[in-house]
Order: sequence, then structure tokens, then C-alpha cells
Amino acid sequence: MLILGIESSCDETAAAVVAETDDPARPWEIRSSVVASQVEVHREWGGVVPELASRQHIRDICGVVERALGEAGIALASLAGGPEGPPHSAAAPHRDGPPHSAAGPHRDRPSYTAAPRHGEAPRHSDGIDAVAVTQGPGLVGSLLVGLQFAKSLAASLGTPLIPVHHLAGHIESLFLHNGPLSLPTVVLVVSGGHTSLYLVPELGVYRLIARTRDDAAGEAYDKVAKLLGLGYPGGPVIDRLAGEGDDRAIPFPMTRITHRDRNAPGEAGRLDFSFSGIKTAVMRHVKGRGARIEGRGTGIADICASFQRVVVEALVDRLFEAAWRNGAKSVGIAGGVSANSRLRKDAAARGEQLGLPVFVPSLALTTDNAAMIAAAGLRRFRQGITAGWDLNADAGLKL
Ligand code: KG4
Ligand code: ZN
Repeated sequence: MLILGIESSCDETAAAVVAETDDPARPWEIRSSVVASQVEVHREWGGVVPELASRQHIRDICGVVERALGEAGIALASLAGGPEGPPHSAAAPHRDGPPHSAAGPHRDRPSYTAAPRHGEAPRHSDGIDAVAVTQGPGLVGSLLVGLQFAKSLAASLGTPLIPVHHLAGHIESLFLHNGPLSLPTVVLVVSGGHTSLYLVPELGVYRLIARTRDDAAGEAYDKVAKLLGLGYPGGPVIDRLAGEGDDRAIPFPMTRITHRDRNAPGEAGRLDFSFSGIKTAVMRHVKGRGARIEGRGTGIADICASFQRVVVEALVDRLFEAAWRNGAKSVGIAGGVSANSRLRKDAAARGEQLGLPVFVPSLALTTDNAAMIAAAGLRRFRQGITAGWDLNADAGLKL
């Protein structure tokens, strides 16, 4: 089975084709993965501007999907049944009867055909069997672009449409890259919009066990970078500069949440995160030095290293505490911040110490991409989950 994944929840327009394989150690294979990043569009504003993001998604989505299909050896042009197109062209069912009639796409569905690669004979493809798309959470104007595109494509191809939760995509990026993890596993999803811990007791089941009460860890990286005049996004540059600084130079405090969340009194909350305090502590430190710190001297590097040490310690401590409390047999870290070099190193060291395997995705799968959405879509499809044509974007979708 071949699935097309589409992702547009924030500032990346992405499409990917993922195939199921017969190998239980690697059940999914990425055939293509294309990401159009909008970082340059948002950089001058120091963060994502929602209106600019949705407009850019509209500009990019056709080309991104076309390229993902092309790189997977699937030609979009054949959908229209060009001169050498398949006998059942897309036009056929629509011309002969109303869309979605009994004689419509489901029974007589058109399929993509394989585009020849350089030096290769044309390869037959059974075409795309399903379209998976991010339904939420995210920016609603951004989500709508990918969702409407996916709906239209699935409707015209007569394939199932599969709604995917963005964070399920990040979690499944671990299975996509590493193959099956020992279950139960605890996964830290840590990005610019989220910092949460999920227990995965069995395949395709995600139970929220902790989350941030305020800022996400990636958001703290981005805000501290802005404060230090390091630009957007902040994670990669702070990660790099931290390597040149002394991580004990400044004793930034880390908030430890011990009380229940007043907004969610039913949840224990002991493992919850909080990152707004460290951001304020960095701000106070910078102000205390009399002026905004510019340049890349050791002062900045020390701040980056000290800030990163505290953030990574909080993430690693909570992840392994959650694993211990839930009898996990492995742990995973996914999302944009899982690219962080210190987080990877410290988590691997702690895992080794405790005899607990630690899984991370490839660097390409850490930030938003559609291969993870396609993988999560395959998981849901095998659970029998598909959507109707009334599927709508949900900016606050719960997992
Ligand atoms: O998953 P993602 O692409 O988008 C969201 O869903 O938010 O994550 C982007 C976030 C940004 O906040 C960025 O600063 C952070 O991931 N990030 C990093 C690193 N690379 C990206 N944070 C720390 N260290 C990194 N190396
Ligand atoms: Zn994300």
C-alpha cells in the first residue's frame, strides 16, 4: 500500500509518499519526502505570522505534492489520462455520472502511473491508495490549505482520506525511522508548539501523561534567541553556540511543578513542564548586564550553554521519571527540539546508565514533515479510521 501524506499545520508545506513493506523490522519505507520551509518568510518578524503562513502554503502546496509524487515515481499528469494515460482516466467517472455515484471513483477509480526515472524503463505503480493529512492542532489558516487540498485529491482519485493528529505524526516518526520500539514506551514530543509526554502502551495508542503549563521548550529557545539577537529559529543557533560556552557559568533556576493544574484538577500533573521562568531568568540576567548583549563572544556562549543545560536537564529528568513510573521498556524523543545535540547526548547517556533503549528520529524527521503524517496515516488506516468529506481542520485537536 502506498500513502500520500500532506502536512501544513504551521510554517512548513510538506508532502511525502510512504509504502508498507513485508519486513516486520522495517514495516514502512519512505519513497519521497518534500518540505518547503517558510523560515525565510517569517525570519524578519522573529516568529511565524499566521496570515503570511497560510498564503505561502497556498503558493507552495501544488508544487510540493507534485514533486513528492514525482520523486516516488508517480506522475500526476497521468491522472488526467494524457496521450498514454491509463484507460480509466480521472475524467471518466465524472463525465459518465455524478461524482461519488455508484459508478464513480470508488469502483472505477483512476490511478497514477509510474513516471520513468533516468535510464529506467517505465515502472508500473498501483498508484496512491490513500491520502493522509494533518487535521490539527496548528494554525487554522495553515491547516485548511493542506486539508482542502488532500480532500480534493482523495475525492478525485476515489481513495480514502485519513485524518492525522500532528503529534501522532511526531510520535510515529520514531517508528518510521527505527522500526518497532519495545512497548510500553514513553515519548517526549518537544517542539516549538508542544512539550508533552505520551505513554504508548500498544501500537497506535497514545496517552498524555504530562505537558507544559506555559511555553514549549522550542518556544523558550526561540524567545531567548530573540532576546540575544540571534534570529529565528533559535534552537539550532543556541545549540551551536552552547558548545563554545561554560554550561555552569550562570546558575539559571528551573521551575519544578509539584502542584496540580487548576485548569485540569483531575490530572496528577507532577511530571508537567514549565519553561516561562527560565526565559524570564535569562531576560533578567541580560538586563542586569546593562544592555542587550550583541555579538558572539563568550558571554553569549555562556548564556546559551547555561540555558541549554537547564532546559535539557528538565526534559531528560522528566522523561526518565515518566518511564520509570510507567514501567516503560524504551523511551523516545521526537519533534523539532529532538534535533538538539545535548538532548540527544544526555538522553543516550541516561538510557545507557539505566539500561533503557533511547530512540530518536533522523534529523530530517525531527522538524515538521509529511513522511511522519503518512506513517501515522497508515497506522490509522490499519485501525479502520478514515474521514468523510465533511472533515474540518481543528486548531485545538486533542490526541
Ligand atoms: O517540530 P517543529 O518543526 O515545529 C513545531 O511543531 O513547532 O519544531 C520547531 C522548533 C523551533 O522552536 C526550533 O527552535 C526548535 O524546534 N529546534 C531546536 C533545534 N532545532 C530546531 N531546538 C533546540 N535545538 C535544536 N538543535
Ligand atoms: Zn511539529
